[in-house]
Parts: sequence; structure tokens; C-alpha cells
Amino acid sequence: MDRFRIFSITGARPQFIKLAAITRQLYCSELHKKIEHRILHTGQHYDCEMSEIFFQQLKIPRPDYNLGVGSHSPAKQIGLMMSGIEKIFVKEKPDLVIVYGDTNSTLAGAITSVHLGIPVAHVEAGLRSFRMDMPEEINRVLSDRISTLLFCPTKTAVKNLKKEGITENVWMVGDIMYDIFLHAQKYLNNTEILNNYNLSPKNYLLLTIHRKENTDDPRSLIRVLDVLEQSEEKTIFLLHPRTEKFLKGVRQFRFERYRKLMFSKPVGYIDMLILEKNAKKIITDSGGVQKEAFWFNVPCIVLREETEWKELLFWRHFHLVGNNVVRLQNSIKSACRINKQKTWTPGKGNTSLLILEKITRWLCWKSSCTKGLE
Ligand code: UD1
Ligand code: UDP
Repeated sequence: MDRFRIFSITGARPQFIKLAAITRQLYCSELHKKIEHRILHTGQHYDCEMSEIFFQQLKIPRPDYNLGVGSHSPAKQIGLMMSGIEKIFVKEKPDLVIVYGDTNSTLAGAITSVHLGIPVAHVEAGLRSFRMDMPEEINRVLSDRISTLLFCPTKTAVKNLKKEGITENVWMVGDIMYDIFLHAQKYLNNTEILNNYNLSPKNYLLLTIHRKENTDDPRSLIRVLDVLEQSEEKTIFLLHPRTEKFLKGVRQFRFERYRKLMFSKPVGYIDMLILEKNAKKIITDSGGVQKEAFWFNVPCIVLREETEWKELLFWRHFHLVGNNVVRLQNSIKSACRINKQKTWTPGKGNTSLLILEKITRWLCWKSSCTKGLE
């Protein structure tokens, strides 16, 4: 039997981590006998610490194509991705395309494939914030609407799709990020990153911010930093390039003004997990980091008014504070008792296997139907 040609489209940091779960699974199992897997990197993220470091550390094969699209307005970025992807797919004729999450690369990949008649599998389908002013929400809703196979990480995601009338080929497979999270556990005893920043376990706060709603108004961003400057603990702030750009754009802003904050470039995945595991609290607006905080049982303060991961709302150490400075201050000060209560099991760490098996079965079924017609 010929192998099925499947393309993964990725472009942004969290997508490389999800892709790593798929490529690892292909490498470890017999599935590579049935699947010829190719990687298309759109180039949405391009700094070494936002892209290359993940390919190296997570041993992801080199992308077969890199469009090198870079940063632009959403319309130009998505447009450039679409025309680049189209050229490659006309030549390569994939049997199916996998898109991940909710970035502009996800949407560009989904629309272009569907226009060429190529079925799309959406990994992390059905997540909703119910805020159509979020670029990610637009990308998710539209990608789900045109995908053929929908792989949901949670029961809530399945319900969200049902409410939108999407019920066919929808599977609850668990969270793909949990696969790679479990795999990484054996590397987390190294304390080099803590030593480099002179941090001791459970004595510091970890901060990441990158959502449009938090970065694009630098005054509100600076208010968050001012609160952290008043806190008892040191804070390590891993600066997403978007956030760094906005802070540098503020004329009166001075990094040196902050004595309690350590500003750092983003770090690789393993170092990130080590920083998360040892933090006293995590303050973030990242989707991935919220879940990792829960998996490590490290209290998490979310700089958003809502979350797509509704399962986390029942965890006692999960605080949604939006951009309200008083709520942020109170949450930083609130006591953290050990909390063994588990409210959500994100899967068994076999999400990538389930996804690849279902894709293969579906492609076999589809090719047998097509042969019947010949
Ligand atoms: C994107 C995703 C977001 C995801 C995040 C993960 C969209 C709409 N947003 O947000 O859902 O959570 O990635 O990190 O797709 N930049 C660099 N170097 C890079 C990449 C970006 O300097 O390697 C700067 C550029 O100034 C760029 C800005 O960051 O304009 C924003 O980058 P972009 O890819 O547009 O969106 P993100 O904020 O990274
Ligand atoms: N991450 C990382 N290094 C960093 C910051 C984040 O490896 O400096 C990882 C983090 O552990 C998580 C993922 O990146 O697995 C989350 O990506 P991001 O916050 O960029 O996007 P989101 O999840 O919000 O879409």
C-alpha cells in the first residue's frame, strides 16, 4: 500500500510543541509505515528562541518547507501564507493537512487546503473564549467550520462544536500538549536555569504576557509590572517579542527602573517547564502556560477575563484577574495551600497516537470509497 502524504502546517511557538508530539509518535510507532509526514513552517515566528530552539531541543525533523513569511498586518501575513502554501500544495498534493491551535498559520493552512479540496484535520478544535474581538477566536471558529476532522482536547470543546452544529468526525482525544509534557518530565531535575538567574525553588514569580489585549495598551502592561515591583518575591519575566516591542516603544519606559523584575528572552521548552515547576506562582495570559501551571499544581494568575480551558475554573489556585490591578495584587498575596484536588485529566498522554490512528483510518476509508467509484 502507498503511504498517505500528510502535511503539518506550523508557524508559532506553541504549534512547534504540539507538532513535536506528532513527530515523536510517528518516530516511535509503526505509523510511519503508513504515513509520509511533511512539515511546512510558515515563518510566523522566526527568532531562534521562538522557533529553532524547539526544533533542536524537541528533536523535530527540519521543516520540508519554510515560507519565511515573518511579521506583518494580519491580512498581509495570512495572504502571504496562503499563496505560499498554495504553491507547495499544488505541487505536493497532500492527502490531508493537519493544522494546530488558533494562530494565523492555522487559519491560512485551513483555508488554502480546503480551497484545493484537501481535507483538514484541526488539532485543538472546539476551544472558545466567546470573544470575537480576539484574533485567536476568529481563527478557531473559522478553522473549525471548514475542517473535516476535529480533534478536541476537552469535553467542553466537543460541546462547543455541537452548539455550532458541528458533530460529524468530532473526537475527544485529550490534550496533545500533555503528551509532550509527560515526556519532558525526566529532564526537569536540572537546575542550571535556576542557578543562571539566581533563583531558588518556590521563591520567585514567573511572568509571561503576549496577548494583544494586554500588550497593545502599554499603560496597562506597565501597571502590571509596577504591581510586581511591589511584591515580596522576585519575578522572572520571559519577554515575548511582541511584548518587548511594545515596551520598547514607550518613550519613558526603562527596564533598569525595575529592581524586582528580571527581564529575559524567551527560553526553550525544558527550561520553561523547570521555571514553571519551581515557581511560587505563575502569572500569565498564555493558554499553554495556564495548563502547565495546573499540571504542576503551581498557583496560576491569569491576566484575562475568560479562559478557553473551562476545566481550570474549578481549581482553587486559578485566578482570572483580567487587567484589574487590585485583583492582581490580592491574588499575588493570597496564601497558597497545598491542593491535591484534581479537577481535570487532560488525557493519558496518548493524544498524538489517537489523532494519527484516526487520521489513518479515515484516509483508508476514504481511499476505499474512492476506489469503489473508479
Ligand atoms: C501568535 C498568535 C497567538 C499565539 C502566539 C504564541 C496569532 C494571531 N497570534 O501571537 O495566538 O498565542 O503567537 O506565542 O497568530 N515577533 C518577533 N519575532 C518573532 C515573532 C514575532 O519579533 O519570531 C514580533 C513581531 O514584532 C510581531 C509580533 O512579535 O509583529 C507579533 O507576532 P505575531 O506572530 O503576529 O503574533 P504573536 O503575538 O506572536
Ligand atoms: N514557552 C516556552 N518558553 C517561553 C514561554 C513559553 O517554551 O519562554 C512554552 C510554554 O511552556 C507553553 C507554550 O510555550 O508550552 C505556550 O506558548 P505561548 O504562550 O507562546 O502561546 P499560547 O499557548 O498562549 O497560544
